[in-house]
Amino acid sequence: MIFNDIESILSRNLSEDEAQNLYSDARTEAQSRFGTGIFVRGLVEVTNVCRNDCLYCGIRRSNKLADRYTLSLDETVQACQAAYRAGLRTFVMQGGENPAYADCVEEVVATVHELMPDAAITLSLGEHPTHLYRRWRQAGASRYLLRHEAADPALYSSLHPSGMSLEHRMDCLQALRDEGFQVGTGMMVGVPGQTVQHIMRDIEFMARFKPEMIGIGPYIPHAQTPLANCAPGSIDMTLKLISILRLMFPNALIPSTTALATLHPRGRLMGILAGANVVMPNVSPVYSRTRYSLYDGKAHSDAEAIEGLAQLQSQLDLIGYQINFDKGDFKKDV
Ligand code: 5AD
Repeated sequence: MIFNDIESILSRNLSEDEAQNLYSDARTEAQSRFGTGIFVRGLVEVTNVCRNDCLYCGIRRSNKLADRYTLSLDETVQACQAAYRAGLRTFVMQGGENPAYADCVEEVVATVHELMPDAAITLSLGEHPTHLYRRWRQAGASRYLLRHEAADPALYSSLHPSGMSLEHRMDCLQALRDEGFQVGTGMMVGVPGQTVQHIMRDIEFMARFKPEMIGIGPYIPHAQTPLANCAPGSIDMTLKLISILRLMFPNALIPSTTALATLHPRGRLMGILAGANVVMPNVSPVYSRTRYSLYDGKAHSDAEAIEGLAQLQSQLDLIGYQINFDKGDFKKDV
């Protein structure tokens, strides 16, 4: 696909037929690599303590109403073990950017890795010094999710406090790659101020960086943020982007995100039918799930959670897909 086509697809409202053709092309591409299997990753929301103050995010530092928590080593290990017993072989430890927690990550990773060496550990903990990334990699983590959020510097600055910069974000992404992580990036769709031109910059950035994983989901407002009154991102735009990214990156691991599932009861399936090949059921302790509130109304039960794995399986059945319990590392074409 050439960039002009992409811009045109993103700029217009596609007819139902055009949209279905795009999704179907992307699905065919995904199925040629992954069949009808969907990888499952257990999401452990390790902490909602965050030093940052991103304007869109419900766990931003200045949200004084957020009920802060950090999982203990035991709680994290138990969550991973429960996920392991259910068959999952990837755990994603995600949390706010929290230097105090960062000091414990090496031990958490090493413990989980030692207990379940055949499972992959993915981290999603924000920006940290390279020496910490190196230690976490050495302790057994092999993948890292750090969405770039906005590849346009002005849009990036409008969404983040002055201490944060796109340049530093990019440096962290490069450092993660240099340390040998499979790296995931991505952005929200329909975040306030975002235009198609901004999304084109995101796509150009990803075309250069070639992420192994790509997380995109619609922006959803959170009441305790400065952007509370902004409209949520569009489902159609998110689906178009999933398809475009699948066609651009046939081997990428692209989740059908919780944000999509939150905006529409069939969101999870719609993402898969547009070319996504990963879902991330919540395996956090139940008490923490509502507290890890990045946006309002977050789906965190039923097929979104580990207890609902059978439900997820039967939903996938309906569209001719099934869970793939493999570790599911990124594979390049040979
Ligand atoms: N709506 C949708 N996604 C959000 N994220 C943070 N806040 C929101 C929101 N209000 C996303 C960010 C972050 C990821 C963990 O969650 O893109 O990288």
